[in-house]
Amino acid sequence: MISFQPPQPDDAAAIEDLLDRAFGPRRVRKTAYRYRAGLPPVHDLSLVAHDGDELVGTIAFWPVRIGEAAIPALLLGPLAVAPERRGHGIGVALMRRGIDAAARAGHRLAVLVGDRDYYARFGFEPAGPTGIYMPGEPRRLMVRALAPNGLEGVTGRIRPGRSVRRRLRAA
Ligand SMILES: CC(C)(COP(=O)(O)OP(=O)(O)OC[C@H]1O[C@@H](n2cnc3c(N)ncnc32)[C@H](O)[C@@H]1OP(=O)(O)O)[C@@H](O)C(=O)NCCC(=O)NCCS
Repeated sequence: MISFQPPQPDDAAAIEDLLDRAFGPRRVRKTAYRYRAGLPPVHDLSLVAHDGDELVGTIAFWPVRIGEAAIPALLLGPLAVAPERRGHGIGVALMRRGIDAAARAGHRLAVLVGDRDYYARFGFEPAGPTGIYMPGEPRRLMVRALAPNGLEGVTGRIRPGRSVRRRLRAA
């Protein structure tokens, strides 16, 4: 049976290995990684899936801000399932749990870079019409409100966010 829980420190190596297998070791050159460099993922939203002792899936969210108003948002990803375990609903379960937790925690909207055909089922839409953009990702950027009217008035460039802890300390 698959279990889902927040990652523990000793999951770190297995998560990196899974991401290498899912995206290849050159994944860190992707545009989205520039938004994660030097920042921890958003506390309490990362999840891993285990089958017994084996780590078979992972999802995380990073803080970003959007536009002149620096509206805080989430960058969803990476999402990955072990190649030999795909097609059994683990990806959908990680996405649903992650999105629900992010909405419950009061986050306003999420963006991601990914395949439209996969992410449309979770309510993500192409970012183009909103004017939200990520330089280097003109086609695969998608957005989703997490709160009522969460996308209203949000437009402009995505920039790396600040960790929630740093934001609290600065307040
Ligand atoms: C995308 C990924 C997380 C899906 O995980 P999974 O556990 O196989 O997904 P699920 O079993 O929950 O869902 C499978 C469904 O998603 C579809 N699907 C999977 N990848 C897809 C893609 N890139 N585009 C469109 N549909 C996709 C399958 O066809 C299947 O559809 P169905 O339910 O109509 O049969 C997994 O394939 C993966 O790790 N891929 C490599 C990394 C990656 O691409 N991550 C996402 C960034 S785009």
